[in-house]
Amino acid sequence: MTVEPVNVAEYERLAAERLEPGSLGYFAGAAGDERTLRANVEAFARWHLRPRVLVDVSAASAATTVLGTPVSMPVLVAPVALQRMLHPDGEAAMARAAAAAGTIMTLSTIATTRPSEVAAAAPGAPRWFQVYVLKDRGVTRALIDEAIDHGFSALVVTVDAPRAGRRERDLRTGFAVPPGIDMPAVRAATGSQGPVTPQEFFALVDPSLTWEGFERIAADSPVPVLLKGVLTAEDARHACDSGAAGLVVSNHGGRQLDGVAASLDALPEVVDAVGGRLEVLVDGGVRRGTDVLVALALGARAVLVGRPPMWGLAAGGEAGARRVLELLRDEVELALALLGAPSPRDIGGDHVAHASG
Ligand SMILES: Cc1cc2nc3c(=O)[nH]c(=O)nc-3n(C[C@H](O)[C@H](O)[C@H](O)COP(=O)(O)O)c2cc1C
Repeated sequence: MTVEPVNVAEYERLAAERLEPGSLGYFAGAAGDERTLRANVEAFARWHLRPRVLVDVSAASAATTVLGTPVSMPVLVAPVALQRMLHPDGEAAMARAAAAAGTIMTLSTIATTRPSEVAAAAPGAPRWFQVYVLKDRGVTRALIDEAIDHGFSALVVTVDAPRAGRRERDLRTGFAVPPGIDMPAVRAATGSQGPVTPQEFFALVDPSLTWEGFERIAADSPVPVLLKGVLTAEDARHACDSGAAGLVVSNHGGRQLDGVAASLDALPEVVDAVGGRLEVLVDGGVRRGTDVLVALALGARAVLVGRPPMWGLAAGGEAGARRVLELLRDEVELALALLGAPSPRDIGGDHVAHASG
């Protein structure tokens, strides 16, 4: 008898059994000693939830809006590269899974599927496009234009990766994307489609990008632009004057600078600095519905999940990814009811306390 996984951790174990070592190391791994990777998950355990009783939760629902877009839950799919390395259906399956679960998928610049194909896979579903600003601005522009022409309704500009983090699992396995797997952005930027390592991809990213460059992108964009990879109050204040519509507090799942704070630990100072001027999202280490509520109590509008839906895709294709997202939605809804907060809107700072007192 096969038993269906009942939580994210069980999907992770199943995915680990199915993936070959190079792919598993790429998706599971992070930079350096992976301290930040572990810290992201552990940070949630340092908060207690403070439930209220005798609240009418008969209509408790996880539904909310993010940048004005209705979603079934405050959980979005983070941009994750190379999804065809997890399952042949790759990003198209992820787009259908997110659509079925009622949430937004963010397509990576380093996707193995074109924006137009992702749009065709889930027409009508809300989708965002993640931008790495490449040295070749013509290629960057063409990718953004393709995404906007195909209904991607926001850009997420990732700014924590002027160079690739030192991912030692990939160095050990010699991980590279095989030539049979197309990476449209890389092909456009290099004109070739040989095997590509993450290091080689990041060499295409423009390490000279500054706030002025970001401001130009935001000013030129017909759709809202979020800034992904902010961890400090200083950068959050800067972002408020940059034309950004939102921020993603993120350390890239621990894959860039090892030793930075867990995203959850950076969230309060960013929320404080932003002072309600922008929507603040957060990602890194969310594995449970109760984690989502902690992030909301600390001021996030919503969270993004990177690895969890990828484990679902690896374990069971579109159905697996969808199931992971639905599990998270069910967990959020149950936790809202038990917390005495019928809607994500009802969650405030007094719904959590630091576990140390
Ligand atoms: C295998 C992998 C590939 C990723 N690729 C990208 C990417 O192409 N662009 C990007 O902005 N972030 C990328 N990220 C970071 C995620 O968007 C997100 O910040 C991170 O996964 C959140 O942490 P979590 O995996 O603990 O949920 C990647 C993360 C992983 C694990």
